[in-house]
Amino acid sequence: MYYIKRLYILLFILYIFSCTEDKKTIIETPKTKEPAKELSTLEPYLPVAVGQKTFQRHCLACHSTKYIEMQPNFPEKTWQKIVDKMVKNFGAPIPDSSVKVIVKYLVDVKGARDKE
Ligand code: HEC
Repeated sequence: MYYIKRLYILLFILYIFSCTEDKKTIIETPKTKEPAKELSTLEPYLPVAVGQKTFQRHCLACHSTKYIEMQPNFPEKTWQKIVDKMVKNFGAPIPDSSVKVIVKYLVDVKGARDKE
């Protein structure tokens, strides 16, 4: 009888150890501090202004909005030159009437005063 009691105690001790052993092996899922980035934060949109649709249609075929957004503020002449360069050098199919609208839009949202 005494022998059986000892066996129970031994089993009980083993049981406790097996429990604490289990806790150690739990793999914790890493907690991410930052929430998943939304597409809107990766691809910012330039401010809404007249001509935005025309700009989007003609300029975003080759660039991201980010690419235009990270440019410094340019005076009208510079934007005009850039848009002309896109048409003449890089073959952007933009009609003259749209070029005017786009340049105006770019000056509105990323314009700087002419230094001359
Ligand atoms: C047919 C494709 C195409 C279209 C459409 C296009 N671009 Fe570009 N753009 C280019 C290429 C190619 C470059 C040169 C990239 C480089 O140098 O790495 C460039 C460069 C630029 C640059 C960098 C400055 C510079 O002078 O090189 C700006 C700003 C720019 N484009 C703005 C525009 C704007 C605004 C429009 C809309 C009117 C536009 N792009 C439409 C192809 C295009």
